[in-house]
Amino acid sequence: MKVSIIGGTGYVGLITGLGLAVHGNDVICMDTDHRKIGALNSDELPIYEEGLAELLREAKARNKVAFTTDIKTAVKESDILMLAVGTPETKNGDTDMSQLIKALKSIAGHIDNYKTIVIKSTVPVGTCDMARMIIKDNLKNSLVPFDLVSNPEFLREGNAVKDFLTPDRIVIGTDTSESEVIMKELYGPFAAPLVLTDTRSSEMVKYACNAYLATRISFVNEISEISEKVNADIHAILEGMKLDKRIGSLYLNPGPGFGGPCLAKDLKSLVH
Ligand SMILES: NC(=O)c1ccc[n+]([C@@H]2O[C@H](COP(=O)([O-])OP(=O)(O)OC[C@H]3O[C@@H](n4cnc5c(N)ncnc54)[C@H](O)[C@@H]3O)[C@@H](O)[C@H]2O)c1
Repeated sequence: MKVSIIGGTGYVGLITGLGLAVHGNDVICMDTDHRKIGALNSDELPIYEEGLAELLREAKARNKVAFTTDIKTAVKESDILMLAVGTPETKNGDTDMSQLIKALKSIAGHIDNYKTIVIKSTVPVGTCDMARMIIKDNLKNSLVPFDLVSNPEFLREGNAVKDFLTPDRIVIGTDTSESEVIMKELYGPFAAPLVLTDTRSSEMVKYACNAYLATRISFVNEISEISEKVNADIHAILEGMKLDKRIGSLYLNPGPGFGGPCLAKDLKSLVH
């Protein structure tokens, strides 16, 4: 399939683009960052992740990936336009949508046949509906059909290539059967359960997961603090907890809190 990733040199965009390319799709990674596009065209990666250099080599050797700053080419050449631009937090803790809105407006001006527009960025519930309006308002020909799809990403830094290629599940939110068929075909080669739902539920899955993971870390830190006060051994307590199949062992280690690029910002966004 022909796929363009908008924000295609970013952390999620690059891993997604190369992952889809090695599965046989023709991928264009488009980004406004000339420096990163130049680097990738010279075979230099802007980030380190285990296995990413091999993915780049394979995708290039099979002529399955191209890197460009040209939005027109990215829109014209592909049937699926996947947005993986940043959605950082604002000063108030809500989501800064400016990169996404700008990217939507820039693709809309070049759409002249049916496109499946996929939002991979983590976005507040209702964003696909908002994006649909933005595209509609900025189309040159208002009769051109398109669909909006939500497809959140769950990869973890340090394990991102593996997480993308062998995910626990793939969440796809669509509001039309045509776009559902296209997304099922795109992810057909991945051996993972598909969670098929509407766009709003799909957008919410991402927040629910990150809020739950943050809750587990915060919970174990609370238990650790109480344990210290009552002279109990947190390691023994955790062993007792983790062997309970209903609880499981991941995201249950005491520490200084949670970090990384997403948990804190997504939690604040959900609260908003
Ligand atoms: N980093 C993670 O581990 C992770 C995991 C899951 C989901 N996410 C979500 O994925 C999204 C992207 O995160 P990231 O960490 O990859 O961000 P990033 O900042 O690494 O990448 C964003 C990219 O978008 C590009 N960009 C911005 N505006 C553009 C435009 N108008 N047109 C084309 N390109 C444009 C930027 O140049 C940049 O390369 C966010 O919504 C984030 O919450 C991130």
